[in-house]
Amino acid sequence: MTKDTTYYLGNDDKEISRLALQHAVWRSAMLAAFETAGIGPGQRALDCGAGPGFVSFDMAEIIGPQGKITALERSTHYIAAITRTIAQRGLSQITPRQADIEQDPLPESEYDFIFVRWVFAFLGDPLAVLDKLVKALKPGGRMVIFEYYDWGAMQFMPDDPRLSSVKEIMIADWRKIGEVDAAKLILPAITAHGLHLASLTPHFRVISPTDFAWQWLWRFLLPHGQTLASRKVLTQEQADGFENAYKALEANPDARMTTPLLAEIILKKTRP
Ligand SMILES: C[S@@+](CC[C@H](N)C(=O)[O-])C[C@H]1O[C@@H](n2cnc3c(N)ncnc32)[C@H](O)[C@@H]1O
Repeated sequence: MTKDTTYYLGNDDKEISRLALQHAVWRSAMLAAFETAGIGPGQRALDCGAGPGFVSFDMAEIIGPQGKITALERSTHYIAAITRTIAQRGLSQITPRQADIEQDPLPESEYDFIFVRWVFAFLGDPLAVLDKLVKALKPGGRMVIFEYYDWGAMQFMPDDPRLSSVKEIMIADWRKIGEVDAAKLILPAITAHGLHLASLTPHFRVISPTDFAWQWLWRFLLPHGQTLASRKVLTQEQADGFENAYKALEANPDARMTTPLLAEIILKKTRP
């Protein structure tokens, strides 16, 4: 039985609403990637590390009632959220599966399409999971991955050391449990895993306080700063300084920030 381990960013309702906002910001890029990858009606798909299922619900529209989607997720709370939405929206083509992608087996040569977004960054051995996912793809199947290439590319203008120093501590803390810039591990491993790189698209933006993506980043950064203070990774003074510097940044109409550099990777399985 899969252990319901709380993932690094938490599994509660606040994290569900943060993931909903994040999905809204990135939904159009994801749908464009689905189109490029050739996801279509009647396919079998795996949404790996599905969270509360936002991606699976979009996939269900495209794949239609004849298709089949497995929403694989470790958290009991998220599996319950997925199950509720399936019942409310009658999305019987989605099957929630509570599993740990690192520990539990996947069926081999099962899926036409696999989607993984912001999951490799939380894994102890991302390349072992990549191998498992490749085996689970049918020959010729597609995999779409969205993972950070350089989270540190996020910068604040004007800079304030209370912001940039906390950002560095956040990166160092993340690296205790996984590789935040997971795309840097995956990209050099593609050919050896029997995959062809169909496309690689960097996503990087310069945003201002009025941009939607600004909310996406700060809805993560501010609570995460306080969480790190409660874990004694930051002092309370550092976390409060981070918040105060953020308030000054947001009040400045000329302020800008760059987003973390995100890699959209579309792969095709070439080996039998
Ligand atoms: C940042 S969320 C992303 C959710 C979703 N992929 C999205 O893009 O909205 C990461 C998800 O991966 C799940 N996760 C992390 N490690 C996992 C593992 N070993 N097995 C299965 N799910 C895992 C977490 O529970 C969480 O729901």
